[in-house]
Amino acid sequence: MPHLLKVDDLGKTDIDRLLGIAAKLETRGADASPPLLNGCIVGLVFGAPSIRTHSSFQAAAMRLGGRVLDVTGAHGLPYIAESVADVIRSIDSLCQILIVRHPWSPSPPEVADICRIPIINAGQMHGEHPTQALADLYTLRQVFGSLDHLAIGLIVDDPSRREVTSLRHILAAYPSITLHWFISEEADMNLPQQHQIQPLSALPTLAKNLAAVYITPSTNSVASWAHQVASYLRLAVQNNPELCLLHPLPRGAELPTDLDHHLRSAYFREAQNGLWIRQAVLGWALDRWETI
Ligand code: CP
Repeated sequence: MPHLLKVDDLGKTDIDRLLGIAAKLETRGADASPPLLNGCIVGLVFGAPSIRTHSSFQAAAMRLGGRVLDVTGAHGLPYIAESVADVIRSIDSLCQILIVRHPWSPSPPEVADICRIPIINAGQMHGEHPTQALADLYTLRQVFGSLDHLAIGLIVDDPSRREVTSLRHILAAYPSITLHWFISEEADMNLPQQHQIQPLSALPTLAKNLAAVYITPSTNSVASWAHQVASYLRLAVQNNPELCLLHPLPRGAELPTDLDHHLRSAYFREAQNGLWIRQAVLGWALDRWETI
């Protein structure tokens, strides 16, 4: 039974196939989504806030003809002290697949012990957000037509963020993509050695050599970081008007709204692409690919 807890639960073949299915679903349009999930109930278990992931999984399930069982309350799970393992044990017989956002990070044997149905990580387990990384990759392919030989800048003040970890892992499947980290000169970061690391102040100059920049929400670990990012980003798009801007949202001060008018600001498209990716992932996990 396929679970998607981490990007590494997917092979390169799976990733390419999911991107291909998502593209087909997008071409058909949401109104013509195949009724793959007829008779299926998709369970949503969100122990942390979410707008995009929660709503796009919900819309993906409904567009594919499924129904949704959402045990999420207004502020997360109703019984804060209850373990997510107990929630899952209580509801897995009610649905065919579970979408979970929670820091609970089970090993495969633990998942097998607790749950009889596929679990999809909706962005917290194992410090990852695999469906966000798929939407990021899909958006890059959509903007550039291919994933070959892209140079991508990654602006981070916290390299352990879930979308950074998942993006790093998914890009590792595409060796011709180069990742250039832009970090705070003041921050003490333990970064993977194989990547090129630059101070944020180098971004405007190096922007000419980049296809895209992935900006991560500021965690405010360094005072004024977000405002520095915003200033350097404005200079970067002046120096390279073709520069694609990606951001998982929600935004903070690091992504000023004046950049929304930049021709290649792709972050809302990234959020919209979550629908196609999450439809593809639901079909993959429930083994309904052949009918897509
Ligand atoms: N990018 C993302 O995960 O957004 P949400 O927190 O709104 O789901």
